[in-house]
Amino acid sequence: MTFETLTLLPADPLLALIGAYRDDPRPSKLDLGVGVFRDATGGTPVVRAVKAAEERLLGSQDSKSYLGPEGDAGFVAALAPLVLGGAVAAERVAGVQTPGGTGALRLGAELLAQAGVTRIWIATPSWPNHAPIFTAAGLSPQPFDAYDVADQRLDGDALLAALDRAAPGDAVLLHGCCHNPTGIDPDAALWTAIAERIEARGLVPFVDLAYQGLGDGWDADAAGARTVLAGCRYGLLAYSCDKNFALYRERTGALWTVAPDAPASAILYSNLLALARANWSMPPDHGAAAARIVLQDPALAADWQRELDAMRQRLRTLRQTLSALGTIGRIDLAPIARGKGMFATLPLSRTQVAWLREQHAVYMAASGRINIAGFDEAGIARFGEALAALDHAGVA
Ligand SMILES: Cc1ncc(COP(=O)(O)O)c(C=O)c1O
Repeated sequence: MTFETLTLLPADPLLALIGAYRDDPRPSKLDLGVGVFRDATGGTPVVRAVKAAEERLLGSQDSKSYLGPEGDAGFVAALAPLVLGGAVAAERVAGVQTPGGTGALRLGAELLAQAGVTRIWIATPSWPNHAPIFTAAGLSPQPFDAYDVADQRLDGDALLAALDRAAPGDAVLLHGCCHNPTGIDPDAALWTAIAERIEARGLVPFVDLAYQGLGDGWDADAAGARTVLAGCRYGLLAYSCDKNFALYRERTGALWTVAPDAPASAILYSNLLALARANWSMPPDHGAAAARIVLQDPALAADWQRELDAMRQRLRTLRQTLSALGTIGRIDLAPIARGKGMFATLPLSRTQVAWLREQHAVYMAASGRINIAGFDEAGIARFGEALAALDHAGVA
């Protein structure tokens, strides 16, 4: 094997979109591409409580000596009950801090591989990084259709049928809430059916919870994860604080494992530590330390929750305003009000997405995914006009 066997890989299309948007001089340009929350001014500010926690950290931190592969154990301990809500007995749960939700997914994927799991079932479309992460860890992703993008609907029967096709011991990836890229989540009845099917067929649920608090509310957004993890023998939960604490570049996340009992949990934990050590030795500290300070201080925690509530409310209002545009050409925007979190996917072809960018400075992922937080009221009106023009131009 030589380096000459390597080929030039294309740049990440979303990162390329950021550059194109930045260089676009048109004042009416609309950035619906990148997956970060934006406030009404278009900014992605540092959360107030996080800022206060960072100031405390700066004043009080007297060493930057190494922690261990588990990262900030106080952060993981403070977050666990808030995420799991007591749904799983504490002795069955083990957790470590990870570099973001991505690090949690990678660590969990490696644990699965280490345990001899070879396949993970993924309903499509999914976050584009899921399949590469699992493939890199040596698993074989099993994609299956479950989201009807044209109707903006999750096909629960297709999802359950895939679980029936999976072999005992296979893993199943589940978005905990605010599905990326469609915004369509299972309802409570479907979550129960998923949990029952997973338990009955001996599957391993791997829940990816990256948007807790941005959908229906803190506990509601974790309800599906809790239902599934409470019922399984073994399971995993990858968690990101990068959206709900707006810590993005600080790479703050956690991975929890669920095992049948305390001895089995201790075994998983020891494997997590060994895998983390071989990957990043220990995760970056700053974001988790700041989040821990917020979580351990009732006043800061309450202020963070207020700010998170405001983010969620903004997304909900924007969804309703978009939805009120109704049907424009062949695009029905009405279902967007039913969706959760930052994303929706519209049934647009790549040509149509490119046309909207070239003719109307509307920037979105080639898949037709839009970031709801990229809008303001005027932007929604412009978007409606752009869709009408698209229809009028007859671009297919
Ligand atoms: C569904 C999903 N999972 C995981 C992540 C990873 O989050 P992080 O930035 O914490 O690595 C994202 C980020 O966009 C996501 O959308």
